Amino acid sequence: MCGIFGYIGNQNNAAESTLEGLKLLEYRGYDSWGIAVKDGKNIIVEKHVGKIGQAKTSLPKSSLGIGHTRWATHGGVTVENSHPHLDCRKEIAVIHNGIIENFKDLKNELLAKNHIFLSETDTEILPHLIEEYLKTEEFSSAVRDAFNRLKGLNAVVVAYSPSEEIIAAKTGSPLVVGLGVNEFYVASDVSGIINHTRRILFVEDNQMVILGKKLKLISLSSGDEIQPVFNDIDWKFEQSDKGDFKHFFMKEVSEQPKVVKNIALNYKAESEKLADLIDKAFGTFMLGCGTASYAALAGTYLFSRIAKKHINFSIGSEFMYLEDYLTQKSLIIPISQSGETIDVVEPVAKALKKGAKIAAIINVLGSTLYRQADYKFLLGAGPEKAVVGTKSFIAMIAMLILTAYTLAKKQSKGKDLLIKSAENIENILKVDFIEKIKIIADDLKNKEHIYIIGRGLSYATAVEATLKIKETSCIHAEGFAGGELKHGVIALIEKGTPCIVFAPNDETYDDIISNAEEINARGGFIIGIGPKNNDVFDRFLQTDDIGEATMIPQVVISQILAYQLALKRGIEDPDKPRNLAKSVTVK
Ligand code: AGP
Repeated sequence: MCGIFGYIGNQNNAAESTLEGLKLLEYRGYDSWGIAVKDGKNIIVEKHVGKIGQAKTSLPKSSLGIGHTRWATHGGVTVENSHPHLDCRKEIAVIHNGIIENFKDLKNELLAKNHIFLSETDTEILPHLIEEYLKTEEFSSAVRDAFNRLKGLNAVVVAYSPSEEIIAAKTGSPLVVGLGVNEFYVASDVSGIINHTRRILFVEDNQMVILGKKLKLISLSSGDEIQPVFNDIDWKFEQSDKGDFKHFFMKEVSEQPKVVKNIALNYKAESEKLADLIDKAFGTFMLGCGTASYAALAGTYLFSRIAKKHINFSIGSEFMYLEDYLTQKSLIIPISQSGETIDVVEPVAKALKKGAKIAAIINVLGSTLYRQADYKFLLGAGPEKAVVGTKSFIAMIAMLILTAYTLAKKQSKGKDLLIKSAENIENILKVDFIEKIKIIADDLKNKEHIYIIGRGLSYATAVEATLKIKETSCIHAEGFAGGELKHGVIALIEKGTPCIVFAPNDETYDDIISNAEEINARGGFIIGIGPKNNDVFDRFLQTDDIGEATMIPQVVISQILAYQLALKRGIEDPDKPRNLAKSVTVK
Protein backbone atom coordinates (compact mmCIF):
# COMPACT_ATOMS: atom_id res chain seq x y z
CA MET A 1 0.00 0.00 0.00
CA CYS A 2 1.48 3.29 -1.11
CA GLY A 3 4.72 3.48 -3.01
CA ILE A 4 7.52 5.67 -1.69
CA PHE A 5 10.44 6.94 -3.75
CA GLY A 6 13.14 9.51 -3.07
CA TYR A 7 16.31 10.71 -4.76
CA ILE A 8 19.19 12.88 -3.61
CA GLY A 9 22.47 13.20 -5.45
CA ASN A 10 24.58 14.86 -8.07
CA GLN A 11 22.14 14.55 -10.96
CA ASN A 12 19.57 17.24 -11.56
CA ASN A 13 16.76 15.00 -12.82
CA ALA A 14 15.24 14.15 -9.42
CA ALA A 15 11.67 14.77 -10.66
CA GLU A 16 12.02 12.48 -13.70
CA SER A 17 13.84 9.83 -11.66
CA THR A 18 11.15 9.96 -9.01
CA LEU A 19 8.38 9.72 -11.61
CA GLU A 20 10.01 6.65 -13.19
CA GLY A 21 10.46 5.11 -9.73
CA LEU A 22 6.79 5.72 -8.94
CA LYS A 23 5.74 4.01 -12.17
CA LEU A 24 7.57 0.89 -10.96
CA LEU A 25 5.94 1.13 -7.54
CA GLU A 26 2.43 1.98 -8.70
CA TYR A 27 1.24 -1.57 -8.00
CA ARG A 28 1.38 -0.56 -4.32
CA GLY A 29 -1.44 1.96 -4.76
CA TYR A 30 -2.94 3.86 -7.65
CA ASP A 31 -5.52 6.25 -6.22
CA SER A 32 -3.31 9.30 -6.76
CA TRP A 33 0.33 10.32 -6.97
CA GLY A 34 2.55 13.27 -6.25
CA ILE A 35 6.15 14.51 -6.27
CA ALA A 36 7.99 17.26 -4.39
CA VAL A 37 11.36 18.66 -5.45
CA LYS A 38 13.65 21.20 -3.91
CA ASP A 39 14.00 24.25 -6.15
CA GLY A 40 16.57 26.56 -4.65
CA LYS A 41 15.20 27.37 -1.21
CA ASN A 42 11.65 26.25 -2.05
CA ILE A 43 9.74 22.99 -2.12
CA ILE A 44 7.65 22.65 -5.30
CA VAL A 45 4.90 20.05 -5.40
CA GLU A 46 2.91 18.40 -8.18
CA LYS A 47 -0.06 16.12 -7.36
CA HIS A 48 -2.62 14.23 -9.44
CA VAL A 49 -5.61 12.01 -8.85
CA GLY A 50 -5.69 8.69 -10.73
CA LYS A 51 -3.13 6.33 -12.18
CA ILE A 52 0.30 7.49 -13.35
CA GLY A 53 0.05 5.78 -16.74
CA GLN A 54 2.36 7.59 -19.16
CA ALA A 55 2.46 10.80 -17.09
CA LYS A 56 5.27 13.31 -17.52
CA THR A 57 6.32 15.86 -14.93
CA SER A 58 6.59 19.60 -15.35
CA LEU A 59 8.57 20.11 -12.14
CA PRO A 60 11.84 22.08 -12.34
CA LYS A 61 15.28 20.43 -12.52
CA SER A 62 16.45 19.42 -9.08
CA SER A 63 18.89 17.14 -7.31
CA LEU A 64 16.42 16.29 -4.52
CA GLY A 65 12.97 14.76 -4.97
CA ILE A 66 10.47 12.61 -3.12
CA GLY A 67 7.32 11.00 -4.56
CA HIS A 68 4.40 8.83 -3.60
CA THR A 69 1.66 6.67 -5.10
CA ARG A 70 -1.31 6.55 -2.77
CA TRP A 71 -3.72 3.90 -1.62
CA ALA A 72 -6.15 5.91 0.47
CA THR A 73 -6.62 5.09 4.15
CA HIS A 74 -7.63 8.40 5.74
CA GLY A 75 -9.51 10.80 3.51
CA GLY A 76 -10.96 10.36 0.04
CA VAL A 77 -9.14 10.22 -3.26
CA THR A 78 -8.51 13.92 -3.89
CA VAL A 79 -5.59 16.11 -4.89
CA GLU A 80 -5.58 17.62 -1.38
CA ASN A 81 -5.24 14.19 0.22
CA SER A 82 -2.45 13.10 -2.15
CA HIS A 83 1.12 13.11 -0.88
CA PRO A 84 3.53 14.88 -0.40
CA HIS A 85 2.02 16.86 2.45
CA LEU A 86 3.48 20.16 3.65
CA ASP A 87 3.72 22.16 6.87
CA CYS A 88 2.23 25.65 7.29
CA ARG A 89 5.34 27.37 5.90
CA LYS A 90 5.59 24.95 2.95
CA GLU A 91 9.16 24.09 3.84
CA ILE A 92 8.71 20.49 4.94
CA ALA A 93 7.41 17.80 2.58
CA VAL A 94 6.43 14.34 3.82
CA ILE A 95 5.48 11.12 2.05
CA HIS A 96 4.14 8.28 4.14
CA ASN A 97 3.13 4.64 4.02
CA GLY A 98 1.23 3.25 7.01
CA ILE A 99 -1.36 4.48 9.46
CA ILE A 100 -0.70 7.00 12.21
CA GLU A 101 -3.00 5.50 14.80
CA ASN A 102 -2.91 8.48 17.17
CA PHE A 103 -3.30 11.12 14.47
CA LYS A 104 -6.52 12.57 15.91
CA ASP A 105 -4.85 13.37 19.24
CA LEU A 106 -1.82 14.83 17.48
CA LYS A 107 -4.01 16.84 15.13
CA ASN A 108 -5.95 18.35 18.04
CA GLU A 109 -2.67 19.25 19.72
CA LEU A 110 -1.46 20.95 16.52
CA LEU A 111 -4.78 22.69 15.86
CA ALA A 112 -4.52 24.18 19.35
CA LYS A 113 -1.20 25.65 18.22
CA ASN A 114 -2.91 27.20 15.16
CA HIS A 115 -1.55 24.85 12.51
CA ILE A 116 -3.65 24.84 9.37
CA PHE A 117 -4.50 21.55 7.71
CA LEU A 118 -5.46 21.22 4.07
CA SER A 119 -6.24 17.50 3.91
CA GLU A 120 -8.17 14.82 5.76
CA THR A 121 -5.13 12.54 5.98
CA ASP A 122 -3.32 11.21 9.02
CA THR A 123 -0.04 11.94 7.19
CA GLU A 124 -0.44 15.71 7.24
CA ILE A 125 0.11 15.90 10.98
CA LEU A 126 3.75 14.87 10.51
CA PRO A 127 5.07 17.93 8.60
CA HIS A 128 3.29 20.15 11.14
CA LEU A 129 4.70 18.19 14.05
CA ILE A 130 8.20 18.45 12.57
CA GLU A 131 7.58 22.19 12.10
CA GLU A 132 6.95 22.44 15.83
CA TYR A 133 10.12 20.56 16.77
CA LEU A 134 12.14 22.62 14.28
CA LYS A 135 11.46 25.67 16.45
CA THR A 136 14.03 24.36 18.90
CA GLU A 137 15.88 21.55 17.16
CA GLU A 138 17.83 20.89 14.00
CA PHE A 139 16.30 18.89 11.10
CA SER A 140 17.31 15.32 11.97
CA SER A 141 16.43 15.47 15.66
CA ALA A 142 13.14 17.23 14.82
CA VAL A 143 12.23 14.40 12.46
CA ARG A 144 13.26 11.79 14.99
CA ASP A 145 11.32 13.37 17.86
CA ALA A 146 8.25 13.92 15.70
CA PHE A 147 8.34 10.41 14.22
CA ASN A 148 8.75 8.86 17.67
CA ARG A 149 5.42 10.41 18.67
CA LEU A 150 3.58 8.39 15.99
CA LYS A 151 1.77 5.22 16.95
CA GLY A 152 1.37 2.44 14.37
CA LEU A 153 3.47 0.86 11.65
CA ASN A 154 4.80 3.64 9.47
CA ALA A 155 7.46 4.53 6.91
CA VAL A 156 8.12 8.13 5.92
CA VAL A 157 10.49 10.22 3.85
CA VAL A 158 10.95 13.90 4.68
CA ALA A 159 12.47 16.78 2.73
CA TYR A 160 13.13 20.23 4.22
CA SER A 161 13.79 23.19 1.94
CA PRO A 162 16.77 24.74 3.83
CA SER A 163 18.43 21.31 4.05
CA GLU A 164 20.54 19.38 1.55
CA GLU A 165 19.39 16.10 3.09
CA ILE A 166 16.38 13.83 3.00
CA ILE A 167 15.46 11.71 5.99
CA ALA A 168 13.62 8.40 6.00
CA ALA A 169 12.35 6.53 9.05
CA LYS A 170 10.32 3.41 9.63
CA THR A 171 8.58 1.34 12.24
CA GLY A 172 6.75 -1.09 10.04
CA SER A 173 6.27 -0.61 6.34
CA PRO A 174 9.18 -1.56 4.08
CA LEU A 175 11.91 0.89 3.13
CA VAL A 176 15.16 0.31 1.26
CA VAL A 177 18.03 2.65 0.42
CA GLY A 178 20.11 2.31 -2.74
CA LEU A 179 23.66 3.61 -2.80
CA GLY A 180 24.73 5.04 -6.17
CA VAL A 181 27.80 7.07 -7.10
CA ASN A 182 27.43 10.31 -5.13
CA GLU A 183 23.71 9.71 -4.88
CA PHE A 184 21.12 7.84 -2.83
CA TYR A 185 17.74 6.38 -3.64
CA VAL A 186 15.09 5.42 -1.13
CA ALA A 187 12.05 3.34 -2.01
CA SER A 188 9.38 1.03 -0.69
CA ASP A 189 11.11 -1.93 -2.28
CA VAL A 190 14.12 -2.96 -4.27
CA SER A 191 12.21 -3.19 -7.56
CA GLY A 192 11.87 0.61 -7.52
CA ILE A 193 15.63 1.26 -7.49
CA ILE A 194 17.30 -1.80 -8.97
CA ASN A 195 17.60 -0.02 -12.34
CA HIS A 196 19.92 2.51 -10.65
CA THR A 197 21.97 0.51 -8.16
CA ARG A 198 22.29 -2.96 -6.70
CA ARG A 199 24.00 -1.79 -3.50
CA ILE A 200 21.12 -1.87 -1.04
CA LEU A 201 20.57 -1.09 2.62
CA PHE A 202 17.41 -2.61 4.10
CA VAL A 203 16.21 -0.11 6.70
CA GLU A 204 14.99 -2.05 9.73
CA ASP A 205 12.14 -1.11 12.03
CA ASN A 206 12.97 1.69 14.49
CA GLN A 207 15.71 3.06 12.28
CA MET A 208 16.12 6.44 10.63
CA VAL A 209 18.45 7.17 7.75
CA ILE A 210 19.82 10.60 6.82
CA LEU A 211 20.81 10.91 3.17
CA GLY A 212 22.90 13.83 1.96
CA LYS A 213 26.56 13.99 1.03
CA LYS A 214 26.85 10.77 3.00
CA LEU A 215 24.56 8.26 4.68
CA LYS A 216 23.95 8.14 8.41
CA LEU A 217 21.88 5.39 10.01
CA ILE A 218 20.39 6.12 13.42
CA SER A 219 18.43 4.22 16.04
CA LEU A 220 15.07 5.94 16.48
CA SER A 221 14.87 5.00 20.13
CA SER A 222 18.37 5.90 21.36
CA GLY A 223 19.52 8.33 18.68
CA ASP A 224 22.78 6.36 18.48
CA GLU A 225 24.50 5.92 15.15
CA ILE A 226 24.36 2.41 13.68
CA GLN A 227 26.88 0.92 11.27
CA PRO A 228 24.97 0.38 7.99
CA VAL A 229 25.30 -3.02 6.32
CA PHE A 230 24.95 -2.84 2.55
CA ASN A 231 23.96 -5.84 0.49
CA ASP A 232 25.15 -6.27 -3.07
CA ILE A 233 22.03 -7.69 -4.61
CA ASP A 234 22.55 -10.10 -7.48
CA TRP A 235 18.87 -10.95 -7.77
CA LYS A 236 17.45 -10.98 -11.24
CA PHE A 237 14.24 -8.99 -11.38
CA GLU A 238 12.38 -10.14 -14.43
CA GLN A 239 10.69 -7.37 -16.31
CA SER A 240 7.26 -8.03 -17.65
CA ASP A 241 5.21 -6.43 -20.39
CA LYS A 242 1.82 -7.28 -21.80
CA GLY A 243 3.15 -8.63 -25.07
CA ASP A 244 0.18 -9.35 -27.34
CA PHE A 245 -2.27 -9.36 -24.45
CA LYS A 246 -4.63 -6.51 -23.71
CA HIS A 247 -4.20 -6.98 -19.98
CA PHE A 248 -1.61 -8.51 -17.67
CA PHE A 249 -4.46 -10.55 -16.18
CA MET A 250 -4.86 -12.84 -19.20
CA LYS A 251 -1.13 -12.84 -19.92
CA GLU A 252 -0.53 -14.17 -16.43
CA VAL A 253 -3.40 -16.67 -16.67
CA SER A 254 -1.88 -17.97 -19.90
CA GLU A 255 1.52 -18.43 -18.22
CA GLN A 256 0.10 -20.93 -15.76
CA PRO A 257 0.94 -24.13 -17.66
CA LYS A 258 4.59 -23.04 -17.64
CA VAL A 259 4.44 -22.11 -13.94
CA VAL A 260 2.95 -25.48 -12.94
CA LYS A 261 5.37 -27.48 -15.12
CA ASN A 262 8.31 -25.60 -13.63
CA ILE A 263 7.28 -26.68 -10.13
CA ALA A 264 6.53 -30.25 -11.24
CA LEU A 265 9.89 -30.64 -12.97
CA ASN A 266 12.29 -28.50 -10.93
CA TYR A 267 11.10 -28.45 -7.32
CA LYS A 268 12.22 -31.90 -6.17
CA ALA A 269 14.73 -30.54 -3.64
CA GLU A 270 12.44 -27.74 -2.42
CA SER A 271 9.49 -30.07 -1.86
CA GLU A 272 11.72 -32.55 -0.04
CA LYS A 273 13.07 -29.84 2.25
CA LEU A 274 9.62 -28.45 3.03
CA ALA A 275 8.17 -31.95 3.55
CA ASP A 276 11.01 -32.72 5.97
CA LEU A 277 10.38 -29.53 7.96
CA ILE A 278 6.66 -30.33 8.21
CA ASP A 279 7.41 -33.91 9.19
CA LYS A 280 9.68 -32.85 12.05
CA ALA A 281 7.64 -29.91 13.31
CA PHE A 282 5.45 -30.11 16.37
CA GLY A 283 2.52 -28.08 15.12
CA THR A 284 2.53 -26.57 11.65
CA PHE A 285 0.56 -23.42 10.77
CA MET A 286 -0.10 -22.16 7.27
CA LEU A 287 -1.18 -18.57 6.96
CA GLY A 288 -1.81 -16.00 4.29
CA CYS A 289 -4.24 -13.28 3.31
CA GLY A 290 -6.84 -13.11 0.54
CA THR A 291 -5.98 -15.47 -2.25
CA ALA A 292 -2.91 -16.74 -0.41
CA SER A 293 -5.12 -17.61 2.57
CA TYR A 294 -7.18 -19.83 0.28
CA ALA A 295 -3.97 -21.57 -0.79
CA ALA A 296 -3.23 -22.11 2.91
CA LEU A 297 -6.78 -23.40 3.44
CA ALA A 298 -6.32 -25.79 0.52
CA GLY A 299 -3.05 -26.87 2.17
CA THR A 300 -4.92 -28.21 5.20
CA TYR A 301 -7.07 -30.45 2.98
CA LEU A 302 -4.15 -31.49 0.77
CA PHE A 303 -1.85 -32.52 3.62
CA SER A 304 -4.61 -34.29 5.50
CA ARG A 305 -5.78 -36.26 2.49
CA ILE A 306 -2.48 -36.99 0.78
CA ALA A 307 0.05 -37.11 3.63
CA LYS A 308 -2.24 -37.81 6.64
CA LYS A 309 -0.72 -34.77 8.32
CA HIS A 310 -2.63 -32.11 10.20
CA ILE A 311 -1.84 -28.52 9.26
CA ASN A 312 -3.41 -25.64 11.14
CA PHE A 313 -4.76 -22.84 9.01
CA SER A 314 -5.14 -19.19 9.84
CA ILE A 315 -5.87 -15.97 8.02
CA GLY A 316 -2.77 -13.81 8.52
CA SER A 317 -4.55 -11.02 10.39
CA GLU A 318 -6.10 -13.54 12.81
CA PHE A 319 -2.92 -15.44 13.56
CA MET A 320 -1.71 -13.15 16.33
CA TYR A 321 -4.77 -14.21 18.34
CA LEU A 322 -3.67 -17.85 18.03
CA GLU A 323 -0.01 -17.38 18.78
CA ASP A 324 -0.12 -17.99 22.51
CA TYR A 325 0.59 -21.66 22.17
CA LEU A 326 3.47 -21.40 19.70
CA THR A 327 6.68 -23.06 20.84
CA GLN A 328 10.21 -23.40 19.51
CA LYS A 329 9.07 -26.59 17.79
CA SER A 330 6.28 -24.88 15.86
CA LEU A 331 6.66 -24.41 12.13
CA ILE A 332 5.00 -21.40 10.52
CA ILE A 333 4.46 -21.48 6.76
CA PRO A 334 3.50 -17.99 5.60
CA ILE A 335 2.26 -18.03 2.01
CA SER A 336 2.42 -14.80 0.05
CA GLN A 337 2.92 -13.58 -3.49
CA SER A 338 4.45 -10.23 -2.53
CA GLY A 339 6.15 -11.25 0.70
CA GLU A 340 5.15 -7.82 2.02
CA THR A 341 1.62 -8.30 3.37
CA ILE A 342 1.71 -6.69 6.80
CA ASP A 343 -0.96 -9.04 8.16
CA VAL A 344 1.48 -11.88 7.52
CA VAL A 345 4.76 -10.08 8.20
CA GLU A 346 3.65 -8.92 11.66
CA PRO A 347 2.53 -12.29 13.07
CA VAL A 348 5.62 -13.92 11.57
CA ALA A 349 7.80 -11.40 13.44
CA LYS A 350 5.95 -12.31 16.65
CA ALA A 351 6.33 -16.04 15.97
CA LEU A 352 10.06 -15.52 15.41
CA LYS A 353 10.31 -13.91 18.84
CA LYS A 354 8.79 -17.08 20.30
CA GLY A 355 11.48 -19.15 18.62
CA ALA A 356 9.20 -20.76 16.02
CA LYS A 357 10.77 -21.61 12.67
CA ILE A 358 9.55 -19.87 9.53
CA ALA A 359 9.38 -21.61 6.14
CA ALA A 360 8.01 -19.00 3.74
CA ILE A 361 6.40 -19.80 0.40
CA ILE A 362 6.71 -16.57 -1.55
CA ASN A 363 7.00 -15.25 -5.08
CA VAL A 364 9.08 -12.10 -4.60
CA LEU A 365 12.77 -12.41 -3.98
CA GLY A 366 14.18 -10.13 -1.31
CA SER A 367 10.77 -9.22 0.12
CA THR A 368 10.28 -8.74 3.85
CA LEU A 369 9.02 -12.32 4.36
CA TYR A 370 11.93 -13.61 2.29
CA ARG A 371 14.30 -11.88 4.68
CA GLN A 372 12.38 -12.91 7.81
CA ALA A 373 12.22 -16.60 6.95
CA ASP A 374 14.57 -19.30 8.17
CA TYR A 375 13.74 -21.34 5.06
CA LYS A 376 12.72 -19.68 1.80
CA PHE A 377 10.73 -21.36 -0.95
CA LEU A 378 10.43 -19.14 -4.00
CA LEU A 379 7.54 -19.98 -6.29
CA GLY A 380 9.28 -18.95 -9.52
CA ALA A 381 6.03 -17.73 -11.05
CA GLY A 382 7.72 -14.58 -12.40
CA PRO A 383 6.45 -11.03 -11.91
CA GLU A 384 2.71 -10.82 -11.33
CA LYS A 385 1.59 -7.38 -12.41
CA ALA A 386 -2.19 -7.69 -12.36
CA VAL A 387 -3.43 -6.81 -8.90
CA VAL A 388 -5.66 -9.89 -8.97
CA GLY A 389 -3.54 -12.92 -8.12
CA THR A 390 -3.74 -15.76 -10.65
CA LYS A 391 -0.51 -17.55 -11.48
CA SER A 392 0.90 -17.00 -7.98
CA PHE A 393 -2.11 -18.85 -6.50
CA ILE A 394 -1.74 -21.72 -8.94
CA ALA A 395 2.00 -21.87 -8.13
CA MET A 396 1.19 -22.02 -4.38
CA ILE A 397 -1.26 -24.89 -4.96
CA ALA A 398 1.24 -26.74 -7.19
CA MET A 399 3.94 -26.38 -4.51
CA LEU A 400 1.59 -27.67 -1.81
CA ILE A 401 0.42 -30.65 -3.90
CA LEU A 402 3.99 -31.65 -4.73
CA THR A 403 5.12 -31.28 -1.12
CA ALA A 404 2.15 -33.26 0.26
CA TYR A 405 2.87 -36.09 -2.17
CA THR A 406 6.58 -35.89 -1.29
CA LEU A 407 5.74 -36.19 2.39
CA ALA A 408 3.58 -39.22 1.55
CA LYS A 409 6.60 -40.69 -0.30
CA LYS A 410 4.73 -40.48 -3.60
CA GLN A 411 6.51 -37.56 -5.19
CA SER A 412 6.27 -38.92 -8.73
CA LYS A 413 2.48 -39.16 -8.45
CA GLY A 414 2.31 -35.51 -7.39
CA LYS A 415 4.54 -34.58 -10.30
CA ASP A 416 2.33 -36.52 -12.78
CA LEU A 417 -0.83 -34.85 -11.52
CA LEU A 418 0.76 -31.43 -11.91
CA ILE A 419 1.91 -32.15 -15.47
CA LYS A 420 -1.61 -33.33 -16.32
CA SER A 421 -3.11 -30.20 -14.76
CA ALA A 422 -0.77 -28.03 -16.87
CA GLU A 423 -2.00 -29.85 -20.00
CA ASN A 424 -5.59 -29.28 -18.91
CA ILE A 425 -4.93 -25.55 -18.48
CA GLU A 426 -3.53 -25.49 -22.04
CA ASN A 427 -6.86 -26.86 -23.29
CA ILE A 428 -8.87 -24.38 -21.25
CA LEU A 429 -6.88 -21.56 -22.83
CA LYS A 430 -7.94 -22.62 -26.34
CA VAL A 431 -10.44 -20.44 -28.19
CA ASP A 432 -13.29 -22.97 -28.19
CA PHE A 433 -13.13 -23.47 -24.41
CA ILE A 434 -12.97 -19.73 -23.78
CA GLU A 435 -16.07 -19.37 -26.01
CA LYS A 436 -17.91 -21.74 -23.63
CA ILE A 437 -16.86 -19.59 -20.67
CA LYS A 438 -18.06 -16.49 -22.52
CA ILE A 439 -21.56 -18.00 -22.87
CA ILE A 440 -21.70 -18.40 -19.09
CA ALA A 441 -20.35 -14.88 -18.62
CA ASP A 442 -23.32 -13.71 -20.74
CA ASP A 443 -25.67 -15.62 -18.41
CA LEU A 444 -24.12 -13.99 -15.33
CA LYS A 445 -23.05 -10.49 -16.37
CA ASN A 446 -26.21 -8.72 -15.19
CA LYS A 447 -26.68 -10.71 -12.00
CA GLU A 448 -26.28 -9.00 -8.66
CA HIS A 449 -25.20 -12.08 -6.71
CA ILE A 450 -23.43 -15.34 -7.51
CA TYR A 451 -23.16 -18.21 -5.03
CA ILE A 452 -20.34 -20.73 -5.26
CA ILE A 453 -20.14 -24.03 -3.40
CA GLY A 454 -17.70 -26.88 -2.95
CA ARG A 455 -16.82 -29.42 -0.30
CA GLY A 456 -13.44 -30.46 1.09
CA LEU A 457 -10.66 -29.18 -1.13
CA SER A 458 -13.32 -27.71 -3.42
CA TYR A 459 -14.43 -25.46 -0.55
CA ALA A 460 -11.04 -23.72 -0.94
CA THR A 461 -11.63 -23.69 -4.71
CA ALA A 462 -15.04 -22.10 -4.16
CA VAL A 463 -13.79 -19.27 -1.97
CA GLU A 464 -10.90 -18.53 -4.34
CA ALA A 465 -13.27 -18.45 -7.34
CA THR A 466 -15.51 -16.14 -5.35
CA LEU A 467 -12.70 -13.68 -4.67
CA LYS A 468 -11.69 -13.65 -8.36
CA ILE A 469 -15.25 -12.77 -9.41
CA LYS A 470 -15.67 -10.13 -6.71
CA GLU A 471 -12.46 -8.22 -7.30
CA THR A 472 -12.32 -8.56 -11.10
CA SER A 473 -15.95 -8.05 -12.11
CA CYS A 474 -17.32 -6.25 -9.03
CA ILE A 475 -20.27 -8.67 -8.83
CA HIS A 476 -21.13 -9.76 -5.32
CA ALA A 477 -20.18 -13.42 -4.99
CA GLU A 478 -20.33 -15.62 -1.93
CA GLY A 479 -18.47 -18.89 -1.58
CA PHE A 480 -19.14 -21.43 1.08
CA ALA A 481 -18.95 -25.10 1.98
CA GLY A 482 -21.78 -27.02 0.31
CA GLY A 483 -22.91 -28.44 3.64
CA GLU A 484 -23.55 -24.94 4.96
CA LEU A 485 -26.22 -24.25 2.35
CA LYS A 486 -29.11 -25.51 4.44
CA HIS A 487 -27.81 -23.67 7.51
CA GLY A 488 -28.83 -20.31 6.16
CA VAL A 489 -27.65 -19.35 2.68
CA ILE A 490 -30.43 -21.29 0.99
CA ALA A 491 -32.76 -18.50 2.11
CA LEU A 492 -31.19 -16.37 -0.63
CA ILE A 493 -31.82 -18.80 -3.49
CA GLU A 494 -34.75 -17.92 -5.74
CA LYS A 495 -35.67 -18.48 -9.36
CA GLY A 496 -32.67 -17.74 -11.55
CA THR A 497 -30.13 -17.24 -8.73
CA PRO A 498 -26.80 -18.30 -10.24
CA CYS A 499 -24.82 -20.89 -8.33
CA ILE A 500 -21.49 -22.37 -9.37
CA VAL A 501 -20.91 -25.91 -8.10
CA PHE A 502 -17.38 -27.35 -7.96
CA ALA A 503 -17.83 -31.09 -8.35
CA PRO A 504 -14.59 -33.03 -8.69
CA ASN A 505 -14.69 -36.78 -9.03
CA ASP A 506 -13.86 -37.47 -5.40
CA GLU A 507 -15.59 -38.31 -2.13
CA THR A 508 -17.45 -34.99 -2.20
CA TYR A 509 -19.24 -35.63 -5.51
CA ASP A 510 -22.49 -37.21 -4.28
CA ASP A 511 -22.96 -34.74 -1.45
CA ILE A 512 -22.26 -31.65 -3.55
CA ILE A 513 -24.69 -32.93 -6.19
CA SER A 514 -27.32 -33.25 -3.43
CA ASN A 515 -26.62 -29.60 -2.55
CA ALA A 516 -27.02 -28.70 -6.22
CA GLU A 517 -30.39 -30.51 -6.21
CA GLU A 518 -31.45 -28.42 -3.21
CA ILE A 519 -30.60 -25.26 -5.17
CA ASN A 520 -32.35 -26.63 -8.25
CA ALA A 521 -35.49 -27.29 -6.22
CA ARG A 522 -35.61 -23.56 -5.43
CA GLY A 523 -35.16 -22.51 -9.06
CA GLY A 524 -31.43 -21.71 -8.93
CA PHE A 525 -29.41 -21.60 -12.15
CA ILE A 526 -26.58 -24.10 -11.72
CA ILE A 527 -23.19 -24.11 -13.41
CA GLY A 528 -21.22 -27.28 -12.75
CA ILE A 529 -17.43 -27.32 -13.06
CA GLY A 530 -15.61 -30.65 -12.85
CA PRO A 531 -14.89 -33.86 -14.74
CA LYS A 532 -18.46 -35.34 -14.69
CA ASN A 533 -21.62 -33.76 -16.08
CA ASN A 534 -24.89 -34.15 -14.20
CA ASP A 535 -28.56 -33.58 -15.08
CA VAL A 536 -28.85 -31.02 -12.29
CA PHE A 537 -26.45 -28.64 -14.05
CA ASP A 538 -27.95 -25.97 -16.33
CA ARG A 539 -24.48 -25.32 -17.73
CA PHE A 540 -21.37 -27.45 -17.48
CA LEU A 541 -17.66 -26.78 -17.97
CA GLN A 542 -15.58 -29.92 -18.04
CA THR A 543 -12.13 -30.36 -16.50
CA ASP A 544 -9.94 -33.43 -16.63
CA ASP A 545 -10.12 -35.87 -13.75
CA ILE A 546 -6.74 -35.43 -12.08
CA GLY A 547 -7.22 -36.14 -8.38
CA GLU A 548 -6.46 -33.24 -6.07
CA ALA A 549 -4.95 -31.33 -9.00
CA THR A 550 -8.47 -31.03 -10.50
CA MET A 551 -8.58 -27.93 -8.35
CA ILE A 552 -6.08 -26.27 -10.69
CA PRO A 553 -8.17 -26.26 -13.92
CA GLN A 554 -11.28 -25.48 -11.84
CA VAL A 555 -9.64 -22.31 -10.52
CA VAL A 556 -8.33 -21.38 -13.97
CA ILE A 557 -11.86 -21.60 -15.39
CA SER A 558 -13.08 -19.28 -12.64
CA GLN A 559 -10.22 -16.83 -13.35
CA ILE A 560 -11.23 -16.63 -17.03
CA LEU A 561 -14.91 -16.36 -16.10
CA ALA A 562 -14.08 -13.45 -13.77
CA TYR A 563 -12.10 -11.73 -16.53
CA GLN A 564 -14.86 -12.23 -19.11
CA LEU A 565 -17.42 -10.87 -16.66
CA ALA A 566 -15.22 -7.80 -16.16
CA LEU A 567 -14.99 -7.20 -19.91
CA LYS A 568 -18.71 -7.70 -20.45
CA ARG A 569 -19.51 -5.32 -17.59
CA GLY A 570 -17.24 -2.65 -19.07
CA ILE A 571 -14.72 -2.65 -16.22
CA GLU A 572 -12.15 -0.10 -17.30
CA ASP A 573 -8.95 -1.87 -16.23
CA PRO A 574 -9.20 -5.46 -14.96
CA ASP A 575 -5.49 -5.25 -14.02
CA LYS A 576 -6.17 -2.59 -11.43
CA PRO A 577 -9.52 -3.17 -9.72
CA ARG A 578 -10.94 -0.25 -7.82
CA ASN A 579 -9.85 0.24 -4.22
CA LEU A 580 -7.21 -2.50 -4.31
CA ALA A 581 -3.41 -2.62 -4.32
CA LYS A 582 -0.99 -5.40 -5.13
CA SER A 583 1.00 -5.11 -1.94
CA VAL A 584 -0.98 -4.63 1.26
CA THR A 585 1.39 -3.10 3.79
CA VAL A 586 -1.10 -1.46 6.14
CA LYS A 587 -3.26 -3.17 8.74
C1 AGP B 1 -5.55 -11.53 -4.83
O1 AGP B 1 -6.36 -11.62 -5.95
C2 AGP B 1 -5.81 -10.35 -4.00
N1 AGP B 1 -5.60 -9.13 -4.69
C3 AGP B 1 -5.35 -10.37 -2.56
O2 AGP B 1 -6.32 -11.09 -1.88
C4 AGP B 1 -3.95 -10.96 -2.22
O3 AGP B 1 -3.96 -12.33 -2.46
C5 AGP B 1 -3.65 -10.68 -0.75
O4 AGP B 1 -3.59 -9.31 -0.54
C6 AGP B 1 -2.35 -11.33 -0.29
O5 AGP B 1 -1.26 -10.87 -1.01
P1 AGP B 1 0.12 -11.60 -0.95
O6 AGP B 1 -0.02 -12.94 -1.59
O7 AGP B 1 1.05 -10.71 -1.70
O8 AGP B 1 0.50 -11.74 0.49
